[in-house]
Amino acid sequence: MRKNNSKKIEQSIGDRRIPGRGRRLSDKFNQIVLDNIPISLITINDGGYITSVNKYFENNSRIKDYHNHNIYKDKFFFEDNLADDYKKMLSGEKKIVRREHFYEKDSQGVGEDRYFKIIAVPYKDKDGHIEGAISMALDNTDAVISKNKLVELNKILEERVEQRTEELHNVNKELNKTLELKSIFMADVSHEFRTALTIMQCSLELIAKSEELKDDNLDLFRNISTEIKRVSGMLTDLALLAKPHSNITARLRFEKIDLNSLIANVCEKLRVVAAEKNITIEHKYAGKPAKIMGNIEDLEKLLTNLVRNAIKYNKENGWIKVWVAKAEDAFCLNVEDGGFGISELDLPHIFERFYRADKSRNRKEGGSGLGLAICKHIAEEHGGYIGVSSKPKVGTLFVVHLPVKFDNGYF
Ligand SMILES: Nc1ncnc2c1ncn2[C@@H]1O[C@H](COP(=O)(O)OP(=O)(O)OP(=O)(O)O)[C@@H](O)[C@H]1O
Ligand SMILES: [Mg+2]
Repeated sequence: MRKNNSKKIEQSIGDRRIPGRGRRLSDKFNQIVLDNIPISLITINDGGYITSVNKYFENNSRIKDYHNHNIYKDKFFFEDNLADDYKKMLSGEKKIVRREHFYEKDSQGVGEDRYFKIIAVPYKDKDGHIEGAISMALDNTDAVISKNKLVELNKILEERVEQRTEELHNVNKELNKTLELKSIFMADVSHEFRTALTIMQCSLELIAKSEELKDDNLDLFRNISTEIKRVSGMLTDLALLAKPHSNITARLRFEKIDLNSLIANVCEKLRVVAAEKNITIEHKYAGKPAKIMGNIEDLEKLLTNLVRNAIKYNKENGWIKVWVAKAEDAFCLNVEDGGFGISELDLPHIFERFYRADKSRNRKEGGSGLGLAICKHIAEEHGGYIGVSSKPKVGTLFVVHLPVKFDNGYF
């Protein structure tokens, strides 16, 4: 190993001049760069002795007297076995050293932790033997500290999000419990009211049977009876809508349902009602099975509501078409009519509870404005949704999108 005893090479890098020629532009450039670059630059010989340094190193390094300083004995190069990499490079085993280097405060805990980007390359004599190496160290401490702070902040943020999620989860649990209680209360109240109404209805019928009702009284009797039935129906609908969305499927019985049979049954049942206005109901059947997992009572209720609406909001001699169409992983139940249609203003609201469009006509038709809210609710409890398109005086098309099977229903 060569000892660093040559005075000639103990000089600041960039001090070299080409003898007798003065300073060339490239020399001046080198000088400017070497004096001002904010990177520690040193050269070492093949024995690990520092042979020259730049100004930045002189001003910032802990090593004040670099003459005869051997990097292999320096604490900076002990960390992470950096010295081993240099030895390998100087023996030709490694072409280049490229490292992210962490330098801890000294043993007395003095100074600050520093982070460096290190690049070292060997240089060779004219015969191709490694003579030494040029080593560069860029102080990267600020960037690393900022990055670490960011990582720390991110961790704190993640913890906070986790904490908030937990809190939300608990609030949600409480809310679900309250909703569950609310729906039990609604179901109980609705049941009590309906029982009372049934008694009133039966009593009324008994009075009607036992007494000869005059024409005026007969009208009154019919009014009371109709209203009792209407309120009773409303209570049933409200009880259904009060069911919380969670847990619905736990209580609902899902089975394999053929949508074409469902359409055939509902249309058959409602043809008598449609006949009063001479309306035709056509079941367009493509002859292909359309089976989904669902609750038969609820789907019957959904389709009945849609077809009843198509009859109610239709003109004399009108038409209604009902069919199933296949979509990806789903079936679409379509109910189309050539009836009154719905105005653009009313269309966004018709699925809201108690919303009734075209007030003047509706008063004549009767209804509570709950039918479509129930349809929406049933479509959603099947993992699907309901859509509508309509044009006043032309007609309306309702499409119920029902997945073939969803998480809570099985084939
Ligand atoms: N096929 C249709 N054609 C035209 N208007 C419709 C049609 N279906 C629904 N509507 C409008 O949407 C409103 C809401 O319908 P929804 O079925 O929810 O209530 P409703 O029929 O008034 O009462 P009910 O609770 O007895 O069903 C209706 O009042 C009506 O104005
Ligand atoms: Mg309706």
